[in-house]
Amino acid sequence: MNTKLVAVVAMASNRVIGDGDDLLWHLPGDLKRVKQLTMGCPLIMGRKTWDSIGRPLPGRASIVLTRDKNWQAEGAIVVHSLDEALHKGAAWLAEQGTGETRQILFGGGQIYKMGLALCDAIEMTEVDLAPIGPAMFPEIDAGHWHETERTQVPADGDVPAHRFLRYEKAAN
Ligand SMILES: NC(=O)c1ccc[n+]([C@@H]2O[C@H](COP(=O)([O-])OP(=O)(O)OC[C@H]3O[C@@H](n4cnc5c(N)ncnc54)[C@H](OP(=O)(O)O)[C@@H]3O)[C@@H](O)[C@H]2O)c1
Repeated sequence: MNTKLVAVVAMASNRVIGDGDDLLWHLPGDLKRVKQLTMGCPLIMGRKTWDSIGRPLPGRASIVLTRDKNWQAEGAIVVHSLDEALHKGAAWLAEQGTGETRQILFGGGQIYKMGLALCDAIEMTEVDLAPIGPAMFPEIDAGHWHETERTQVPADGDVPAHRFLRYEKAAN
């Protein structure tokens, strides 16, 4: 079946997405949004992101990329290339029979870097923080992506200001 690949990411203003083990902020509204955006979809993630979550997310397939041929974890669909991930994700969607066609590029940094060029859309939460961290989201080429949605969320107590952005691939 034909599927669409959508990157879902929360990124700081300096493009940092995590410290390598975990996220660097807590945005309750964003967790809800991620759940809405991803429910019923395969999540394609790196083994380090799987480790940081620690369990399969309900209602979604957890497709985990690793180079380790012996790695396995309960609830994870293990793959060794992005191509294999996309095939397994498409097969999982076909099995569900829900009509859903989106697969989610779920991170982290290595997996966004590898898969962004194949994405049809990006659902981004941009957070007004500049933490230090090794995991980053790649630069977006403005010639290839159009911003089609922007919702601003003001700072509230400990929760920093952030915005929800949608980018769609520009027609060539
Ligand atoms: N803010 C967000 O939206 C967001 C989203 C997701 C993750 N994160 C954060 O990002 C950080 C993790 O990102 P990361 O870049 O360090 O790691 P990652 O992308 O989650 O995972 C990297 C791992 O994926 C596997 N891998 C990478 N390329 C591969 C390939 N070509 N073929 C097969 N396997 C491959 C390797 O696993 P093996 O080592 O097992 O071989 C590699 O160590 C964490 O801090 C996490 O919290 C943030």
